[in-house]
Amino acid sequence: MTNAKHKLTVRDLRKTYGPVVALTEAAFDLEEGEFLTLLGPSGSGKTTMLMIIAGLIQPDRGEVWIDGKLATFAPSYKRDIGMVFQNYALFPHMTVYENIAFPLRMRNMATDKIRQEVGRVLDIVRLPQVADRLPRALSGGQQQRIALARCMVYRPSIILMDEPLGALDKKLRDQMQLEIKQLHTELGITALYVTHDQEEAMIMSDRICLMNEARIEQLGTPADLYFKPRTVFAAGFLGESNLLEATVEAVVGDRTTVKTPDGALVRAPTADGIAVGQAVKLMVRPERLALLGPADSADNVVEGTLDQVIMVGGVTKYYARVAGDRAVSATRLTLGPISGLERGQRVRLGWSADSTVLLTA
Ligand SMILES: Nc1ncnc2c1ncn2[C@@H]1O[C@H](COP(=O)(O)OP(=O)(O)O)[C@@H](O)[C@H]1O
Ligand SMILES: [Mg+2]
Repeated sequence: MTNAKHKLTVRDLRKTYGPVVALTEAAFDLEEGEFLTLLGPSGSGKTTMLMIIAGLIQPDRGEVWIDGKLATFAPSYKRDIGMVFQNYALFPHMTVYENIAFPLRMRNMATDKIRQEVGRVLDIVRLPQVADRLPRALSGGQQQRIALARCMVYRPSIILMDEPLGALDKKLRDQMQLEIKQLHTELGITALYVTHDQEEAMIMSDRICLMNEARIEQLGTPADLYFKPRTVFAAGFLGESNLLEATVEAVVGDRTTVKTPDGALVRAPTADGIAVGQAVKLMVRPERLALLGPADSADNVVEGTLDQVIMVGGVTKYYARVAGDRAVSATRLTLGPISGLERGQRVRLGWSADSTVLLTA
């Protein structure tokens, strides 16, 4: 079997360190030109996956295919891969020019050609004026752009980036996210990116591979993961979620009815493998929950007690206790000063059946 149509394929990868399972049953494909992000908490196996693909760690089992060729045990330098890490790893005693030229010299490129290629990538990262400086004379963001330039200069087939923006402050990180994304689009680079920051993953990725405890939890587009999380972990890791316990009352075609501990019936789209009597969790995003007025109705309504109303600039958050004392939050755009709502007041919260997600795992 070949994997010629994919830029990268990993199959059934597993890596252990003594009793510690760092990665297991990892499998996915990366398409040409795609930006895929490994997202997950610290220790979930992201770096292990990247190092195996780069050839810096050997897996206990499984396969790595690059450009249709089996590469599991190919040495790192024979894989057509570029890497960028969090701590830039520029050579401190070399100028920016020499740093970027280094991988080309290693490949015995002619001096004229090297000058041309270094100029090309310095233009791409929009730093043509810094060639003669030492890395320490650059800002953190500039150093990271040079690290990216050095990685792109020999036109690797795939670029691997392990938390490359982790050391930058928030403002610079926001800016660099957009710059890397733009470079990716302009140059058609195939990228495998690692972050533990869900917002960063949503902003940058074509698809997200969510990792949890050495396994792939869910892989899909940012919208797939946000609107159709398959597990409680996925629902909680991407965005904010309200979770309520419930028991399945009835399954009729594509509609399922569940009952909360205080007896409210809630309708939801039917999830795979759901059965009457089963204990499930129902999930609703805060922005889909509305505070209902006395005359308002909705597919699903629960009653509760208002805990707090907090205006966070452009949005206002309403915290309430519903269905057996579970805390939930509803988010609304702030349209003006809030009045007439008091802590301890009874409220009705409503939402549509289609914005409900049933989680069985
Ligand atoms: N060289 C090593 N020796 C022992 N355990 C390791 C080693 N490298 C990673 N691990 C363990 O493997 C797991 C996954 O680590 P890692 O891939 O670095 O996670 P992440 O990059 O998602 O934070 C963690 O439990 C980590 O402690
Ligand atoms: Mg890591």
